Amino acid sequence: MAKGLLEGKRGIVFGALDEQSIAWAVAEKCVAEGAKITLTNAPVALRFGGLQKLGEKLNAKVIPADATSLEDLENLFTESMEALGGKIDFVLHSIGMSLNVRKKREYTNVNYDWMHKTFDISAMSFHRVMQTAYKMDAMNDWGSIIALTYIAAQRVFPDYSEMAESKALLESFARSFGYHYAKSKKVRVNTISQSPTWTTAGSGVKGFQEFFDYAEKMSPLGNADAASCADFCVTMFSDYTRMVTMQNLYHDGGFSLMGMAPEVLEK
Ligand SMILES: NC(=O)c1ccc[n+]([C@@H]2O[C@H](COP(=O)([O-])OP(=O)(O)OC[C@H]3O[C@@H](n4cnc5c(N)ncnc54)[C@H](O)[C@@H]3O)[C@@H](O)[C@H]2O)c1
Repeated sequence: MAKGLLEGKRGIVFGALDEQSIAWAVAEKCVAEGAKITLTNAPVALRFGGLQKLGEKLNAKVIPADATSLEDLENLFTESMEALGGKIDFVLHSIGMSLNVRKKREYTNVNYDWMHKTFDISAMSFHRVMQTAYKMDAMNDWGSIIALTYIAAQRVFPDYSEMAESKALLESFARSFGYHYAKSKKVRVNTISQSPTWTTAGSGVKGFQEFFDYAEKMSPLGNADAASCADFCVTMFSDYTRMVTMQNLYHDGGFSLMGMAPEVLEK
């Protein structure tokens, strides 16, 4: 049931590719809660057409932007402020892609050009988004910026490969940029560490089904799905979390603090 938590707020949502995308659920929930948003994704992702349909449904302008391009990001903020009628209150960074995982290269035999690209797309893009907004003074005071991450930044999940380091870097950018943004504009920056979720990016990881089942059993509340992640994002974009910043927040049904679960041993 919508409560109007984001009434009057303007946001930019990155990374909705299809109906399974976490960002798709977040975009729908933000609009249901009263926000006006723009949607963005890499130009190549827009070819599939799904995002245009979401844009029509949510009355949201779709603006192509490759998150590795400063020029695209500057244009994205300019066009978003024009379309939404003012500065931005919240941003969701929901971008992840590993070339070595996609091309099935083992972690002990990575291609470093691909690794560079992975870090650029999955982590440096977050700094780039924030720096662009910062320099353009595009965020309203007390705005909120979130990126989605995974616990492989802290613990070893061998098949997650170089995405583990991407997420560690991403989370560090949230802390470091979070400091500067808090001091200058009272803007908060956090990462949400989400359960395994059935999406294009998620299911690209080797053994995802087995891992998803394992996490489901290890988490006392079960895996958090995309819809509940969207609820959490709305909370983080709302005025009820104004003093939370520079945090990595686990949204994982309790997985991160478990040592042993009887259900896993029984299996
Ligand atoms: N699915 C999971 O199990 C899971 C768990 C924890 C965190 N996450 C994170 O959630 C975020 C969203 O992933 P998802 O699971 O919804 O999958 P998804 O595949 O739906 O979303 C990934 C998005 O990244 C976009 N993208 C890739 N390269 C880009 C570029 N150069 N510029 C702009 N956008 C680009 C893709 O087009 C896609 O929309 C990612 O950061 C992912 O690592 C996912």
